[in-house]
Amino acid sequence: MEKILQLIKKAENTNDLTKEEIIEILQDSENNQELFDAADRIRKKYMGDEVHLRGLIEFSNICKRNCMYCGLRAENKNVKRYRLMPDEIIELAKKGAEYGYKTFVLQSGEDEFYTVEKMKYIISNIKKMDVAVTISIGEKTYEEYKAYKEAGADRYLIRIETTDRALYEAMDPNMSHENRKRCLEDLKKLGYEVGSGCLVGLPNQTIESLAEDILFFKEIGADMIGIGPFIPNEDTPLKNEAGGEFYLSLKVMALTRLLLKDINIPATTAMETLNNNGRIIALQSGANVVMPNITEGEYRKLYALYPGKICVNDTPSHCRSCITGKITTIGRTIGKNKGFRNRELENQLRVKN
Ligand code: 5AD
Ligand code: SF4
Ligand code: FES
Repeated sequence: MEKILQLIKKAENTNDLTKEEIIEILQDSENNQELFDAADRIRKKYMGDEVHLRGLIEFSNICKRNCMYCGLRAENKNVKRYRLMPDEIIELAKKGAEYGYKTFVLQSGEDEFYTVEKMKYIISNIKKMDVAVTISIGEKTYEEYKAYKEAGADRYLIRIETTDRALYEAMDPNMSHENRKRCLEDLKKLGYEVGSGCLVGLPNQTIESLAEDILFFKEIGADMIGIGPFIPNEDTPLKNEAGGEFYLSLKVMALTRLLLKDINIPATTAMETLNNNGRIIALQSGANVVMPNITEGEYRKLYALYPGKICVNDTPSHCRSCITGKITTIGRTIGKNKGFRNRELENQLRVKN
C-alpha cells in the first residue's frame, strides 16, 4: 500500500514510470483516489482551470470497416445510415460558432463519399470562421492528410485502440496495426496536433497491454489522448462480452495525465455512459477537454457506436448550457481560445489575428 503511494508520488514528481510500476498501480484498488487527486494536481499545474469545449459533428455513420466492437461496422444492417452534405456540415459549424465553440471535430465512419475535394471544401469553409478544425475520419494516405492540412485542418484524431498487435488485428479485421502507426507518424510529420487513445476492457486485453498503451502515447509524442471504456453493442459480434470498467478506464486516463503532463485529455462521452457524473469525475482526475455533440436531430441517435450514448435526445444549445453549468459548478472555467497544446503557437496566432 505504502509502495503504491510512493509510486504515485514518483509519477507526480517526475512524470515518468516504468511499465512494471504502471502495472502495479493499475492492479491496486486501494489508492484510486490518491491517483486521481495527483492527476488533478498535474492537470491544474500544467493546463490550468480552463476546460476547452470542442463541438463534435458526426457527419456520416457510413463505414467500410468492420471493427468488432463498433455499431457502425459495415456488416451491421440494423442501423439506418446517413450522410450529411458538405454544406450541411458547414452550416452546423456556423451554428456552433454562434454558440461560442472555437474548435470543431469533424468525425465520421470511413466513408469514401467524402473525397479529398469535398473534405477540402468543408475544411476551408469552416476555417473562415476563425476556429480550429480537428478531423477524425480514419486511415488515409499521406497525400490525403497533406491535402486536409493545406486546406487548414489543425488536428487529427485516430485512436490506436490498443497497442497489442494481435488483439488489434482480432478486433479490427483486415486492418493492419502497422498502417495505423504509419498514419500517426504521417500526421505528426505533417505538423498536425495528433490525437490518439485506446479502449479499455476489450476482450482478452491485459493490464500489461494497457500499461504499454500509456507508454506508447508518450513515445509517439501525442498531443491529445482520449480514453474510454469499451461498451458492448447488441448489434456486433462482441455483444456478450463484459465491457470495460469505469474506474479502470479512469485510472488509465489519470496515469496518462501523470506521464504526459501538458497534453489535452478529453473527459469522454463513453465515461459518462457508464457513470452519470462520468465526465465531471474525469475532469477532476486529469481531463481538461469536453467534446459536446453539436450534431442535430435524429443523426445523434444514428451515430450509434455503442448503446446508452448520452445526449441523443438533446439539442446542441441544451448540451452547451448543460455542460457549462456542470463545469462552472466544480470551479472551472470554459476556455476562451482555441485550446492548442502549444501555447506559443496560440500566442502567435493571436497576434496575427
Ligand atoms: N464502446 C466504446 N467506444 C467505442 N468506439 C467504437 N465502438 C465503441 C464501443 N463499442 C470508439 C473507438 C473509436 C471511437 C470513435 O469510438 O475507440 O476510435
Ligand atoms: Fe468504422 Fe470507426 Fe466504427 Fe471502426 S470504429 S467500424 S472505423 S466507425
Ligand atoms: Fe448533453 Fe448534458 S451535455 S445534456
